[in-house]
Amino acid sequence: MEKYKEIIDFIRKLYNQPDGFIPLHAPVFNGNEKKYLLDCIDSTFVSSVGKYVDLFEEKIAEYTGAKKAVACVNGTNALYLALKLVGVEANTEVITQPLTFIATANAIAYTGAQPIFLDVDKDTLGLSPQALKNWLKNNVKIETLNSKPITINKLTKKPISACVPMHTFGHPCRIDEILEICTQYNIPVVEDAAESLGSFYKKQHTGTFGEIGILSFNGNKILTTGGGGMLLFKDEELAKKAKHLTTQAKIPHPWEFAHDEIGYNYRMPNINAALGLAQLEQLPAFLKSKRQTAQAYKDFFGCHPDPDSSLKLSGRDVEGSTSTLTFIPEPQNSQSNYWLNCILLQNRTERDAFLKYSNENGIMTRPAWTLMNKMDLFKNCPTDGLENALSLAKRIVNLPSSVKI
Ligand SMILES: Cc1ncc(COP(=O)(O)O)c(C=O)c1O
Repeated sequence: MEKYKEIIDFIRKLYNQPDGFIPLHAPVFNGNEKKYLLDCIDSTFVSSVGKYVDLFEEKIAEYTGAKKAVACVNGTNALYLALKLVGVEANTEVITQPLTFIATANAIAYTGAQPIFLDVDKDTLGLSPQALKNWLKNNVKIETLNSKPITINKLTKKPISACVPMHTFGHPCRIDEILEICTQYNIPVVEDAAESLGSFYKKQHTGTFGEIGILSFNGNKILTTGGGGMLLFKDEELAKKAKHLTTQAKIPHPWEFAHDEIGYNYRMPNINAALGLAQLEQLPAFLKSKRQTAQAYKDFFGCHPDPDSSLKLSGRDVEGSTSTLTFIPEPQNSQSNYWLNCILLQNRTERDAFLKYSNENGIMTRPAWTLMNKMDLFKNCPTDGLENALSLAKRIVNLPSSVKI
């Protein structure tokens, strides 16, 4: 498949690496990481208590503009806790998108609720407000329970207890429109912003629109704590409740062990927060580097100027082939962290050929996730037509996107 050689050569030049393996997203430790980690070890505060957890929470809240941030062991558990906090329970239903990492659907499943998978937009790759509006219009009714309006699925008779849009690969979805629709139907919004630290929609940080947002600091994210997550709140009382639940719901006391509800051991250890703080100090530099890389990809591949037509390819022709590739740029009204750069190929055959060639030649590339509704686990969950998600899932390829030093 020599026709893809030009792309491989370009990526090697971009990363200044004429040979060897180029990963999809490798962490970069170029700041105070060692200093802060050593400080943790010297102080003996390596576990769930320590100054770095507080500092990291404060700095994330300051950066994102959230009223409060609560650190957590990972993004998946942060999302599960967020869903519990907005009242998601067993025998309810939660709307989300099928084009997402399994953690989104798993966190919903942990609560005992059933996911409903609705289509994504072609340009944002995130939950489509239009699909959401249409589905709600045709499938729900509003009833009153204990003098509160609740939205019920007419077919299953179950309440819709939350909506979880995801900011895919760092590109913000149309979160303001989603929020407006959900407000009309009294559905709380929990934003899965696991991939979008450093991404803004209409100048507001992703994860701060909904009632709660979550971030992930897994090793492959824009910044890492080794493993970790964060809950973002606009409501201080809810944040207090989250902190309480992450610490086994222990009633603060100098020596007594008393707990007032079923809690969790979800605290982020100090040593992870120390790493995160050092990483956060470098976030502006990381973002700058990632945006330069995205620009280079964009210039190389080209992209369709009209986002609504972005599936009609008009990007780069591949030498010796009729196929065309196109880059997916940040959507309108947003600033993306370009966590994972993303191109669209013409069809599944072309995608697979490119994946095979690039990986065999030392360039790590990946397809989008298998759509959630395509897995046995979630195959019986309700969906709409999913026209865009089906088309995107078989054509997306993520390209190496690590920060360059
Ligand atoms: C969309 C999405 N949601 C949730 C998560 C879960 O985060 P974590 O790996 O920190 O549990 C991830 C990433 O890993 C993700 O990409």
